[in-house]
Amino acid sequence: MTNFARRKWLKHSSLAALGLGFSLRSIAGEDYMPYNFEPQTGLVILGANENPYGISEKAKEAIKEIMPYANRYSGNVPLIQTFKKELADFYHVTPEQTIIMPGSGEGLRLLARQYSNGNLVTATPTFGILPTTARKLGMEVIEVPLTAGKVHDLEAMQKAVTAKTSLVYICNPANPTATVLKPDALKNFCIEASGKAMVLIDEAYIDFPDAPYNESMLGLIEDHPNIIVMGTFSKIHGMAGLRIGYVFAHADTIKKLQAGYFDNPQYSVSNLAQYAAMASLKDAAHRTMTREKNAAARQYTYDALVQMKFHCIPSYTNFMFFNLGNYKGDFAADMLQRNILVRSNDYPDGKWARVSFGNMDDMKQFIAVMKTMFPA
Ligand SMILES: Cc1ncc(COP(=O)(O)O)c(C=O)c1O
Repeated sequence: MTNFARRKWLKHSSLAALGLGFSLRSIAGEDYMPYNFEPQTGLVILGANENPYGISEKAKEAIKEIMPYANRYSGNVPLIQTFKKELADFYHVTPEQTIIMPGSGEGLRLLARQYSNGNLVTATPTFGILPTTARKLGMEVIEVPLTAGKVHDLEAMQKAVTAKTSLVYICNPANPTATVLKPDALKNFCIEASGKAMVLIDEAYIDFPDAPYNESMLGLIEDHPNIIVMGTFSKIHGMAGLRIGYVFAHADTIKKLQAGYFDNPQYSVSNLAQYAAMASLKDAAHRTMTREKNAAARQYTYDALVQMKFHCIPSYTNFMFFNLGNYKGDFAADMLQRNILVRSNDYPDGKWARVSFGNMDDMKQFIAVMKTMFPA
């Protein structure tokens, strides 16, 4: 970072402290994307749970192939008309059970609007877009603390769901803590809670854990119109910058969403993103490569931090949550000074950080910097 960029960033981060701008201290917040400082070469970006291995080669080829049609609206491009059907087939659902949109974050904002006529039951901490939007809409947000192991407390959440609840949000695997629920326990929760309210399962990271924890709740949507499952191309497919995500639900629920705030959001997804996504679905090898490299980076990072005596929550995703003990400073800001972008925050039980798994070189740099900040 140049001195100028650093000064500028520090100015922004102190504005953020006043609630006027972006803060690295928001681990999984509404402001998860834009960074209010100048991108710089050499910054090790471990702050947004991105895929460090890039998009599939097949997706790159697809983008080249679709580029001549970039002047056309997607409805006029024959090559992408089958996308919704192909996505639905991939997940063994129907196009009538599917909505495609420019990123699942967009879906979270729309879902908050769609189900704003009651309270939102969610965990704390959790991914911030939905609760933040709900608050902006004037909804009551009932936050149920995670267990000591940083897992969703399904029993307490179930108790919090009442006749006043319009929406229940569960991020599984969880952001920012990287924990996962037992599929059977989550299924039972979804079935029971959906008797009272709409239940949304955000599966942005479902491709990272091994079986049985990679089981989607998708199997429930056919029989339970009050269950919505959401996913994204941003993580395992590495397409965060292309902006494409989706929701699946019972066809009746999809119809209601389309009559409401989900009025053809697929039209807002670029031709490039749609065609790249179609190609990426066909590239299982790219997903396997990402999973395997991520697992190796995760093991390396976990082992190194545990050896340094950090309390780390075992990760089922492409990021990890660890406790900063009695660290006194602003950890994320201090790391940024050292060219590493991570997130940290103060919680009722102390200071925690979230680090995304970059490639092995990124993680070696991260650990080397950690060793200078926390000498043995
Ligand atoms: C849990 C969760 N849901 C949704 C998103 C949004 O993803 P996108 O808008 O890129 O699809 C993220 C991004 O980090 C996330 O962590």
